[in-house]
Amino acid sequence: MAGNDKVALVTGAARGLGELVARRLHAAGFRVALADLDLDAASKVAESLGENALALRLDVRSKADFEAAGKLLEERWGGADVLVNNAGQSRVAALMEISPEEFDAVVAVNLRSVFLACQVFGQAFAARGFGRIVNIASLAGQTGGTATGAHYAAAKGGVLTLTKVFARELAPHGVTVNAISPGPLDLPIVHESVPADKLAAITQAIPVRSLGDPGFIADAVVLLASSGAGSATGACLDINGGLFMR
Ligand SMILES: NC(=O)c1ccc[n+]([C@@H]2O[C@H](COP(=O)([O-])OP(=O)(O)OC[C@H]3O[C@@H](n4cnc5c(N)ncnc54)[C@H](O)[C@@H]3O)[C@@H](O)[C@H]2O)c1
Repeated sequence: MAGNDKVALVTGAARGLGELVARRLHAAGFRVALADLDLDAASKVAESLGENALALRLDVRSKADFEAAGKLLEERWGGADVLVNNAGQSRVAALMEISPEEFDAVVAVNLRSVFLACQVFGQAFAARGFGRIVNIASLAGQTGGTATGAHYAAAKGGVLTLTKVFARELAPHGVTVNAISPGPLDLPIVHESVPADKLAAITQAIPVRSLGDPGFIADAVVLLASSGAGSATGACLDINGGLFMR
């Protein structure tokens, strides 16, 4: 199995894409730490997975929380091997009305978080001579789409840049850093937050005529997290139904 008892930390794993990523990693033989602000929900997912899964409360805006998580995994399972920076938050907002505070808040959750996590875990992985980091970006960060907020799009563009920066730095130490950039996904949050008629129009505009399959994104994370994925680094997998090609 791809995991072979390796240890993966997934942020934002209490629901949505992060939950699915945690489940697929677990099914592939990884020991999985489900890190989320919402500890109750993360604990329920961890309990449903049973052995080799644990939940922890972690705020991705806090460097101290990442350090504490690293320490906990060191004590519990001998240290982490894989980091999936999945937690994120979009906010619909008119471009010219975004306040400086709101801009900073969205950047802190979506971009600064990735910087902090890559700093903390990147160093630990480099010291061990092995590591896999997968950052979940977004199509909005590649096209400058503002439907989910200009601050969100800018932050996700930054995630793609940080992926390359950390990939370059960590490559000689056996640590890879890659990104996956999904288009709109077939997830509950998308159906809840976008009116049905608008979602139908969005879907119609996607060349493959369907929202992205979150299970496929999760499988792509497992692939990039596997030990055999050592030659892929600094890459971005565009999984967007053909909406953006390069
Ligand atoms: N849903 C989509 O269509 C879509 C498309 C492209 C990219 N993405 C990206 O995929 C990732 C997951 O998206 P989703 O749709 O599953 O989101 P979601 O809102 O359903 O889940 C996000 C999870 O992150 C957690 N979280 C939020 N802020 C946090 C914080 N400060 N610290 C720790 N945890 C926090 C939430 O509690 C939640 O469990 C995000 O990075 C998102 O930007 C999603």
